[in-house]
Amino acid sequence: MAKRRLPRAVFDYIDGGAGAEITLRENSRIFEDVTFRPRNAVASSTCRLQTTVLGTTLELPFLLAPVGSSRLSFPRGECVAAREAGAAGTAYTLSTLSGCKLEDVRAASSGPVWYQLYLVGGREAATASIQRARVAGFSALVVTIDTAVAGNRERDVRSGTKELVSGQFWKMLPHVPQLVVRPGWLAGFLLDGGLMEFPNVVLPGKGPMKYAEVEPALAQSTVTWQDLRWIRKVWSGPIVVKGVLTAQDARRAVDEGAAAVLVSNHGGRQLDGVAPSLRALPEVVAAVGGRAEVLMDGGIRRGSDVVKALCLGARAVLVGRAYAYGLGAAGGPGVARAIEILRADLVRTLALLGCDDVAALDRSYVDCPAHWPAASLAVTKHIDSQRNREERPQRSSQAAT
Ligand code: FNR
Repeated sequence: MAKRRLPRAVFDYIDGGAGAEITLRENSRIFEDVTFRPRNAVASSTCRLQTTVLGTTLELPFLLAPVGSSRLSFPRGECVAAREAGAAGTAYTLSTLSGCKLEDVRAASSGPVWYQLYLVGGREAATASIQRARVAGFSALVVTIDTAVAGNRERDVRSGTKELVSGQFWKMLPHVPQLVVRPGWLAGFLLDGGLMEFPNVVLPGKGPMKYAEVEPALAQSTVTWQDLRWIRKVWSGPIVVKGVLTAQDARRAVDEGAAAVLVSNHGGRQLDGVAPSLRALPEVVAAVGGRAEVLMDGGIRRGSDVVKALCLGARAVLVGRAYAYGLGAAGGPGVARAIEILRADLVRTLALLGCDDVAALDRSYVDCPAHWPAASLAVTKHIDSQRNREERPQRSSQAAT
């Protein structure tokens, strides 16, 4: 539905990945390699989806990931998506590269909101946005570390994205027909003010960053571990380091004070050819060793994917495209529908698995290929989970009485 409503350049910006899109495809395909080990003939009348992330209770074990430029998909897209996340009892993560003011996004949602940080615009602009996020009431800062430069998104080149945002008539002209054949989108886009700026990146002496300035700005603003030390001084709340794929980076992030690490390859949009997130997850869980929370994103399209990631040690997961398609298709109701599709499949999967609480999911509910890194972790986790299982029937029979 999003493909039908959006111009090619916008749809492919959401749908596409970097290079040959190997990591993008693998992110979703890898879920096929993990198979369930259900406990059948188990009846349960309730199903608990609640989870606690960074001290906040969420009604769902999935959150909305930062998706830049959502305002191109739908008028006031970031506010709309945040509102739906709050209504569903989960958190929304606002990208630095968003079209709505962070204060408006905070006000739009009844749930928790996190702010994702890029250093585009330099430290002064970043400090100002971090302060604004704190005052507005954002509860966590997500620092993305996998964006040394923008990934090579070949679909954007074919769609003429650079030309379309250049603001130069003759450059734009050959690519305008794709906008004209989407009149519903075009009307909304124009009524919403046309091409967005970045109101959360206020350049000293210049005002909000322009759309065309992003790519060079990203290349000049790689986040380093040194930056993390400085960010910790400016932001006293919890920090999530996003873009961790190896034990080495996981340990470093925790040593630098991360409250959570987010196993992510940016949805296959940055370095093509890196491991799919699900495969990197056990290695990171083992390296972190309980010193921080482990979150994961990448490739999640079904509730059963969420369950598999939780079984492999994620405390919760983030979804990007799964809701971005909904936003592009139908705005708020589209995001609500996407969340509901995931929630319903999550409940069904838990019931079929014979597990009534997401908190009880662990490695004993899945098999994964023996050659995966840190597959040996299964041995210790398995013993723990057997203990859990021995305790659990008593708890449910107490509940029944
Ligand atoms: C992203 N992602 C992203 N991440 C980030 O830290 N800052 C950002 O501005 C963006 N922007 C962005 C735009 C679009 C269109 C997409 C699809 C993704 C990455 C995002 O937060 C997340 O890591 C992935 O989307 C997860 O993969 P799935 O769920 O899309 O497969």
